[in-house]
Amino acid sequence: MSMKNSIPVKELLMQVSKPIFAIQNKEGLNFITRDNDYFINALHEDAMHSVKAFVPAIKPENLGDKNFKKRHSLKYPYIAGAMANGITSAEMVTTMAENGMLGFLGAGGLSLKKIEENIIKLKNTLQDKPFGFNLIHSPGDPAHEMATVDLYLKYNIKLISAAAFMRMTPALVFYRIKGIYKNNQGEIVTPHHIIAKVSRIEIARQFFSPPPEKLVNILLEKGLVSNQEAELSQHIPMAQDLTAEADSGGHTDNRPALALLPTMMALKNEFIKKYNYKEPLCVGLAGGIATPQSAAAAFSMGAAYILTGSINQSCIEAEICEDVKKMLCLAEQADVAMAPAADMFEIGAKVQVLKRGTMFPVRAEKLYKFYKSYNSFDEIDEKSKQEIQEKFLQTSFEDAWKSTKDFFQKNGNIKEIQRAQDDPKTKMALVFRSYLGLSSKWAIQGIPQRKMDYQIWCGPAIGAFNQWVKGSFLETHENRKTDEIALNLLLGACICIRVSILKNQGVEIEDADLFKPMSKKEIFTFL
Ligand SMILES: Cc1cc2nc3c(=O)[nH]c(=O)nc-3n(C[C@H](O)[C@H](O)[C@H](O)COP(=O)(O)O)c2cc1C
Repeated sequence: MSMKNSIPVKELLMQVSKPIFAIQNKEGLNFITRDNDYFINALHEDAMHSVKAFVPAIKPENLGDKNFKKRHSLKYPYIAGAMANGITSAEMVTTMAENGMLGFLGAGGLSLKKIEENIIKLKNTLQDKPFGFNLIHSPGDPAHEMATVDLYLKYNIKLISAAAFMRMTPALVFYRIKGIYKNNQGEIVTPHHIIAKVSRIEIARQFFSPPPEKLVNILLEKGLVSNQEAELSQHIPMAQDLTAEADSGGHTDNRPALALLPTMMALKNEFIKKYNYKEPLCVGLAGGIATPQSAAAAFSMGAAYILTGSINQSCIEAEICEDVKKMLCLAEQADVAMAPAADMFEIGAKVQVLKRGTMFPVRAEKLYKFYKSYNSFDEIDEKSKQEIQEKFLQTSFEDAWKSTKDFFQKNGNIKEIQRAQDDPKTKMALVFRSYLGLSSKWAIQGIPQRKMDYQIWCGPAIGAFNQWVKGSFLETHENRKTDEIALNLLLGACICIRVSILKNQGVEIEDADLFKPMSKKEIFTFL
């Protein structure tokens, strides 16, 4: 009998809520879904038919870890990661929340006043919808870290993403344990959640452990937490959710995702056993996720959720100038480089940035080499000093120091000024750091005469994304919307997983152009 209800397999693979059966008969292989009357008649009539392969329905809302989605009231396991200086804007966070996903406002580098304004705005707009704020470790300014936490607690921000931590700090522990209590059923309730972003195993261990007793005792002595909060804190992990961050834009250890995720997942299982926590731990993946295939790979490896950064910076909701978005749309995978970081300049920390169309990575590297080789700016040879002052700083070193000093004074960071006045090498570091910090601001504001100094954090993901969307409506930044891109990656991941299930059962299919970027409206016709 002929398979009159057989449908082209590509079309079926897109309909992710329907299972697919690959039926072998004497005429060949045919693909059908449960909807076809084949199941009522043909299978019984013709013993020559056999089910050669089966593909289950896989919907975007079924991807990832159920516990993670439930914990944060999400429909989809997708996070738009924090991008400093408010690049992940209130608008981006809002669009994610309104579409069943999560966004973290990029609070790093923003003043307390700006953070507070954003908190008020988001609380008013989103009310109980899920959203969060970033807390970036400030080793040089613990007071700012604590003041940021005070704000989050004051406004009852229930979720933060903790990044760049090298160890647990009093501010982070304070956020996590303030307000915990036991309910009538004897269960520990934690009002404040941390999603940790980590690329190192030793830091992940600290996040999956209870808060260090030593820090809890400091908070107790200061009267910041109660005896009950301190006691209960020893039964909960610092973070229940941890994003394993592979090679990414911004701060990165350039770890490969394929190696990092399994290790972090093994660690999660080790800590579940060790502490017997009542609530499950989850591990998500970030770094390099930009296409349906990479999203599919993450979920196939067991990621509880995925988190993106670089690709969102080219979207309309990103708070960065249009010129930078255009530059990002042209980037290919190799158009990124590691450059010295402004915040941890002296210890040689690096960030991944765009190199196409800007001289920033080369200039920043030069400054770092001078800093390492000389004990003061005066020791540098005349020609290089001239280049730094004329091209990079565009003012004299002493004038640049005056502005740097003003900046630190304004932020109440007198200790740093003192340090620099006592030591010319530190003074040089602060002036160079100030150039590095300003170069991010110039890129955000779009100062054309500073285009060659634009510091644009970004990883190879942007190149992979640009290649995937080439020729589609998503090629230009004007059409890039964070939520639409996220839905494309999620639906695309479902299709890719279905394709590989089929292939792994020995069915050959042509996978070129299987999933092209679609509008949100079109996407919903498949869900
Ligand atoms: C422009 C930019 C700024 C970023 N700033 C921060 C930040 O302030 N805090 C943070 O936790 N992560 C920051 N990140 C990292 C992202 O949140 C995310 O983890 C990362 O970009 C994911 O990797 P991908 O770039 O390959 O998508 C930044 C990334 C970019 C591209």
